[in-house]
Amino acid sequence: MTPILLIWLGLVGLGLLGVLLYWELVIAEGAHLGPRVVVPLYDRIAHRYDADVKKFDPQTESEILGLPLATELVAVNAPRVLDVACGTGRTARALLREVAFDGTIVSADLGRRMLMVGRATCAPWPGRVAWVQAAACPLPFPADAFDCVTCLEALEFLPDPRAALAECVRVLKPGGLLVITNRIGWQAHLLFGKTFSAAALRRLLADLGLEHIRLEAWTTDYDLAWARKSWISRD
Ligand SMILES: C[S@@+](CC[C@H](N)C(=O)[O-])C[C@H]1O[C@@H](n2cnc3c(N)ncnc32)[C@H](O)[C@@H]1O
Repeated sequence: MTPILLIWLGLVGLGLLGVLLYWELVIAEGAHLGPRVVVPLYDRIAHRYDADVKKFDPQTESEILGLPLATELVAVNAPRVLDVACGTGRTARALLREVAFDGTIVSADLGRRMLMVGRATCAPWPGRVAWVQAAACPLPFPADAFDCVTCLEALEFLPDPRAALAECVRVLKPGGLLVITNRIGWQAHLLFGKTFSAAALRRLLADLGLEHIRLEAWTTDYDLAWARKSWISRD
């Protein structure tokens, strides 16, 4: 092999490695590399996650999250909500801004800095949110403990989205509400094994004992799925 050919092969190899790293670290945000990579990536940007990365604004958050969720929970007296992989607590904030919501939220995430930002932004509602540093799977809560479990914009970053969903269902009370996102769009196709077709997600939720499954278009990157845990025990 000539030196020129060797140099070319080396350059092509480096290029491919660059593309692979860009795909995994930038597009997939470390999704296939596990929490040791994903969680520090989010923690590094925790202080600018809400304003710069996600550009959350209270009005939109109320329209797409707070109001529909509070409305679904209005029949439950002081509902207990668990937000899995809560990040900076957008679900807690969206719910607490709604006057119809009289419950409490347990916000769980592995990212210490994401939780710190969340705790600070929820300071106006003392005693309404508990912040727990915990993995999504297994969840450190007993079975049938929550009236509602949410997991938003996070399933695709968890090591095993199916197992994480099973955990969400385990800690949900019979009749309780599950609300999750499923990544869509071109990037979803690059998150191999981490996202679901609508049909596969419906099947999975039904297999986990959920009923009244409803999928809706939510944002450009995510569909939202709503479902209720069956009253009939599967044990
Ligand atoms: C894109 S953020 C979503 C945060 C929030 N749910 C939202 O909608 O803004 C993904 C979050 O998942 C968390 N995360 C990643 N892997 C996790 C794991 N295995 N267990 C718990 N949290 C995890 C990260 O720390 C990060 O806060």
